[in-house]
Parts: sequence; structure tokens; C-alpha cells
Amino acid sequence: MVVGELPLDGKIVVITGAGSGINLEFAKLAHERNAHVVIGDVRLTPEAEEWIATTKGSTSKVVYQQTDVTKWDQLHTLLDVSEKEFGDVPDLYVAGAGVFEPDWSNFWEDPEVDGYKSIDINVAHAIKFTRISIRKLLSKNKKGVILVVGSITGQTPNFTGPLYVATKHAISGFVRSLAMLDEYMDIKVVCSAPGMVLTRLWTDRPDMSKNYKGIEQIALGPKDIAESMVVLAGSSKYGGGTVLEVAKGQPWREVPAYNAPPPLGVGATPEQSAADLRILQILEKERGVALKP
Ligand SMILES: NC(=O)c1ccc[n+]([C@@H]2O[C@H](COP(=O)([O-])OP(=O)(O)OC[C@H]3O[C@@H](n4cnc5c(N)ncnc54)[C@H](O)[C@@H]3O)[C@@H](O)[C@H]2O)c1
Repeated sequence: MVVGELPLDGKIVVITGAGSGINLEFAKLAHERNAHVVIGDVRLTPEAEEWIATTKGSTSKVVYQQTDVTKWDQLHTLLDVSEKEFGDVPDLYVAGAGVFEPDWSNFWEDPEVDGYKSIDINVAHAIKFTRISIRKLLSKNKKGVILVVGSITGQTPNFTGPLYVATKHAISGFVRSLAMLDEYMDIKVVCSAPGMVLTRLWTDRPDMSKNYKGIEQIALGPKDIAESMVVLAGSSKYGGGTVLEVAKGQPWREVPAYNAPPPLGVGATPEQSAADLRILQILEKERGVALKP
């Protein structure tokens, strides 16, 4: 079995980082398709607040849960909102929150003394969010999609942003590793890998706008990416493990793993199948098991 087509209409969607930019545009598209939307973000931008106000009174609801995705208890709380508000776990889970080498967490200025916050936000949150989401779907024996927002820099190097590049490479590898969940458990995990996109990630950063003069010429708009995310999540054309690159001036591109097929002795050996079986036993135990509220 595989998830196959999963249109957003009438579904429940939870999105981190939807207080702004790409994820906010995705929230709008989901709501237009009559999906209930749960937004987790540390803050709402004025444009997000304005939009949420316009949704009051509509049949599909938008709920904002203030969430710092680096705090795992807050991630759990965010993922519990759907059951409290709508009586079911979400169908679609988007791990979208991310930062690009801010002055408080970047490689070259090196301001941190006990850990990289960028890794907590861009990587650890996406991984933990995915694991909790898998458990949520299994608890209700429900098929669903988990979409992680990666980047084109999950495939390319960048001298000025090596920490960001490392986080997005991590996301590509993580999502590819979960490809089989689609077949095993009807849970499709995919990665949207946008090129340059004109959002607050750049425009709120005077330091960056100097570096990226003329960004309008090479960037897509956040709605372009959001539209591709709707297709990536909902269409059977894209299976589990897909990394979909969407950038200005090129057609959408599924990015293959560089090391596929793997060298001899790595990959689908009998030992690998036995290892898969052990994971399947763990997941079967989680199927139909009610989670603590
Ligand atoms: N803009 C681009 O060029 C581009 C390109 C490729 C990938 N991306 C990725 O797209 C995603 C969205 O970025 P965007 O361009 O829309 O930028 P954005 O700054 O408009 O949105 C990012 C959102 O993440 C939220 N966020 C940051 N830290 C958080 C935390 N600790 N807890 C909760 N929320 C937090 C921010 O508050 C913001 O609302 C990010 O993962 C980014 O890496 C962006």
C-alpha cells in the first residue's frame, strides 16, 4: 500500500513556521481548500494576523498555537491541538520553521557557546516533529503525509552559509531515509526543496539584502512554493522520500540521492530486511495505541 492521492480538501493540517512566508502561503491554500489549519510559530507577522482575522466565521478553522519549535514539550502541545479542536489527529504535517544564519546562530561569527540554535530549529525540530506525527497517525490508524521544508541548499554547497547548508543536507538525508514508510505504514514523508524565495528570511535582514541585491530576479514568490507543496503532498505522482526542487527558471525536479544505487554491500541486503522488520515491530506496537492527551 501507499498513501496515493491525498487532496487537502476537508483535511486537518498542522504547520510550523506558518506565521510568515512560504508556510503562511501554504496555510492560506490549505484553508482555501476547506482544510482546518493549526499554525505553530513563535510569532505571527502582521500579514498573518490580518489573514487569520479574515478566516473567522468560515467553516474551516485556523488556530494559532504559539510555539517555539526548539522546545519539545511545545511541539507535543502543538500536535495535540487538532484532537482538542477538531476531534482527530491531522492528516498533513508540515515542518516549515527555519532560519538562515541569523546573527545569534551562524558559522562565521560563531556567537554560540553551548550549541547551534540553527540546528535545533532547522533539523532537530523537523526530526522530532516527524516522529511525533508518525505516532499520531498510527494511533488513529490513519494514512497521512509529513512534509519537511528543506532547501536547494540540501544539495548544493554555499560558502557564506555552511551551517544552513549542513542543516538542509541533514533534512534531505532524513526524508530519503523514511521513503519506505509510505509502503509500510501509509505515511508519506517528503521534502520541499525551494531555491531562492522572496520572504522575510531575506527582507527582514538588512545585512542579507546587501548580499542579495537583485534577489527579485532570481527568486520565486512564497505562493509559488506553497502551490508546489500542495501538489507534492497531495499527488500520487510523488511518493515517500521525494525531495522536490522548485526554483526560478527551471522545471520542478525530483532530486535523486547522489549515492543511489549504493555501493556493493550497502542497502537492500538480507540484514537490511531484518533491520526493517525490527522497526516495523516498533511501529505496529504504536498502531491503534491511544496517546496521552
Ligand atoms: N526564503 C528562501 O529563500 C528559502 C529557500 C529555501 C528554503 N527555505 C525554507 O523555507 C522555510 C520557511 O522560510 P521562509 O522563507 O518562509 O522564511 P520566513 O522567515 O518568512 O518564515 C520562517 C518562519 O519560521 C519561524 N520560526 C523561526 N524559528 C522558530 C522557532 N524556534 N519556533 C517556531 N517558529 C520559528 C519564524 O518565526 C517565521 O515565521 C524555512 O525552513 C527556510 O529554511 C527558504
